[in-house]
Amino acid sequence: MKSITLIKGDGIGPEIAESVLEIIDSSGLVIDWDIQTAGADVIAKEQTPLPDRVIESVIKTGIALKTPITTPIGKGFRSVNVQLRKELDLYANVRPSYNLPGIKTCYDNVDIIVVRENTEDLYAGIERQIDENTAESIKRITRFASLRIADFAFNYALRNNRKEVCVVTKANICKLSDGLFLNCARETAKRFPQINFREILVDNCCMQLVQNPNQFDVLLLPNLYGDIVSDLCAGLIGGLGIAQGANIGTDCAVFEPVHGSAPDIAGQNKANPTALLMSAIEMLSYIGENDIGYKIKTALFETLRAGIMTPDIGGNYSCSKFTNEIIKRLRCII
Ligand code: NAI
Repeated sequence: MKSITLIKGDGIGPEIAESVLEIIDSSGLVIDWDIQTAGADVIAKEQTPLPDRVIESVIKTGIALKTPITTPIGKGFRSVNVQLRKELDLYANVRPSYNLPGIKTCYDNVDIIVVRENTEDLYAGIERQIDENTAESIKRITRFASLRIADFAFNYALRNNRKEVCVVTKANICKLSDGLFLNCARETAKRFPQINFREILVDNCCMQLVQNPNQFDVLLLPNLYGDIVSDLCAGLIGGLGIAQGANIGTDCAVFEPVHGSAPDIAGQNKANPTALLMSAIEMLSYIGENDIGYKIKTALFETLRAGIMTPDIGGNYSCSKFTNEIIKRLRCII
């Protein structure tokens, strides 16, 4: 039996985790879930939002499914998500965005993969207060991390039959840091003559994504632009409720949706579990359970095609009723 860590965060995390666990359970696949809680809710008991036991579990199982964790805005503890990615060296954040059946959007045939560097840049949160009116953040980019993520993006493109990698920077302004990231991508591209290589500035990229997203294939970005652009890409296909993601390292992988803890709808049975479910399907394929993953995806797509959806994508089904509908269809497939 495969052991997988389930990192249960806060906000809508528990609701969507319950939904996805129920669906996987109904597929007949038996998983030994090592359930680990993290985030604001564990601080009172364990004095930290990210206890060592969480990291230890992922190191042991090598694989985790994770729900979002709230990060206090403008104050409070450091992001657990950033800390987790750093401690486990989950250097590649892969976020596919493609149209799902039945969900009406402004665009058809979107099929974009965001490959985001996951360990450095402004996102590392290296900041200092100079005086009461001045603060600074360090944008640290290294050749090592930039070459490593560029190599990942080109290999991903090759393995997945993609045609192009487009590197996205602001190297006209951040000449040293983004310039280094860009040069590492250029250098790596030379080793992959089969893959078309393109360069674009991040502001133009955002405009082009909104105007004509079909022109893009694999996007390669430093951490902060990757974070922002992947939410934009989620918007192109129907929103955060359906946007999946994976954090990949050398020794382990953590699968999690793009979205956050959605405090505005937490505890109301309104959350869309699709983004976590799609992340879990990707995780199943990662561990070699492609057949089960395919069946779950088919049940999900049939449900959406029938117009059964949560409110964020235009439906009126609650999280639990939507889950039951997927399970009903899954039982006919299994
Ligand atoms: P958010 O992604 O939580 O929510 C943005 C909007 O999308 C809200 O209106 C929310 O209701 C909606 N939404 C998100 N996921 C949804 C779902 N599954 N179903 C239906 N609607 C959904 O972003 P926000 O509000 O900026 O951040 C809230 C908290 O989450 C913050 O503390 C932030 O730091 C944290 N966060 C955590 C992440 C992680 O754990 N990996 C990633 C992003 C944010």
